[in-house]
Amino acid sequence: MSKPQIRPATGAQFSRILGVGGYRPVRVIPNAEVLEWIDSSDEWIRTRSGIAERRWAGPEETVAEMSVQAAGKAIAQAGISPDQIGGVIVATVSHLKQTPAIATEIAERLGAGKAPAFDISAACAGFGYGLGLADGMIRGGNAEYVLVIGVERLSDLTDQSDRSTAFIFGDGAGAAIVGPSDTPGIGKVIWGSDGSQSNVISQTHAWDTAFAKPDAVNGAGEEARWPALRMEGQAVFRWAVWEMAKVAQQALDAAGITADQLGAFIPHQANMRITDAMIKALKLPDTVPVARDISETGNTSAASIPLAMERMLESGEARSGDLALIIGFGAGLVYAAAVVTLP
Ligand SMILES: CC(C)(COP(=O)(O)OP(=O)(O)OC[C@H]1O[C@@H](n2cnc3c(N)ncnc32)[C@H](O)[C@@H]1OP(=O)(O)O)[C@@H](O)C(=O)NCCC(=O)NCCS
Repeated sequence: MSKPQIRPATGAQFSRILGVGGYRPVRVIPNAEVLEWIDSSDEWIRTRSGIAERRWAGPEETVAEMSVQAAGKAIAQAGISPDQIGGVIVATVSHLKQTPAIATEIAERLGAGKAPAFDISAACAGFGYGLGLADGMIRGGNAEYVLVIGVERLSDLTDQSDRSTAFIFGDGAGAAIVGPSDTPGIGKVIWGSDGSQSNVISQTHAWDTAFAKPDAVNGAGEEARWPALRMEGQAVFRWAVWEMAKVAQQALDAAGITADQLGAFIPHQANMRITDAMIKALKLPDTVPVARDISETGNTSAASIPLAMERMLESGEARSGDLALIIGFGAGLVYAAAVVTLP
């Protein structure tokens, strides 16, 4: 008797982004307000980072709430109903409750309650990681439609007295529905990590030590301290400028696309100077529109690419059906780049 064989899952031949949506918190923090916390200047912040203002979430604008708002827009644009969603992936480093994953609450609130739902921690590469997973789930036959959300409340992890980070981070959510497609809509995801540099962007200390009380008997232990994000700005800057342009080029090569065929370049909104350096390294023609959402949004980590994508489509800078090169990179260090067709 022949050995029984498992019937494999079979999925769509190709996948693509079918809808994108964003949520930006109501409260705008201009550079002038940041100058109340740190010794700096509007000119320094603008020229070193490209940031003029950022949005910080209020108490009602929770990770779940911002995600639901952004996802609702993506679902509407995709033209599907929430119960068709077969996977909810939430990329975030600032959901402060360890368990359960915030993805299950978001799935429930959206009406996608039975879908597998989980969080991933891949910092500013989180959206690209989510896209890679969604593409695999759809083409592998384990889901038809997948919701990928990048969401952050980095204001909760910002030390307002730290000159090197206080002006950079912002809050917000971006979401995309990925689904089956007749034509290729997501190129090979070039993703990876470099754990040898795990210290260059990280939380100052772990939650288990955050609230350790001083030992009453021998005085050991530390005062309760809320953790914050710390960054070795120059190390990150160098890595991003040198290494990430190569990764972006690999994503173009793997997709068989040349820079002049792009309808948009949407890098992670980390720093305008990093973006400019990548444009140079990639020899991107100036006819290709470039996302510069950082100016009004700051660095929103996992949310930055879908937020910037939504803005470019809404403003008419980029058009549906155009090819976009996306690249995310950040704490880990981690990165993910791909060529995608815009929804
Ligand atoms: C953070 C960053 C903007 C700092 O810019 P930089 O040019 O590297 O600044 P440096 O830390 O070298 O400091 C340069 C000078 O500015 C000063 N400075 C630092 N922070 C300042 C601030 N907020 N305002 C004014 N001056 C500041 C420093 O004291 C230093 O002064 P000195 O030359 O007299 O010693 C930049 O390193 C950066 O963007 N890195 C990448 C960050 C990033 O992308 N992170 C996200 C990845 S996901």
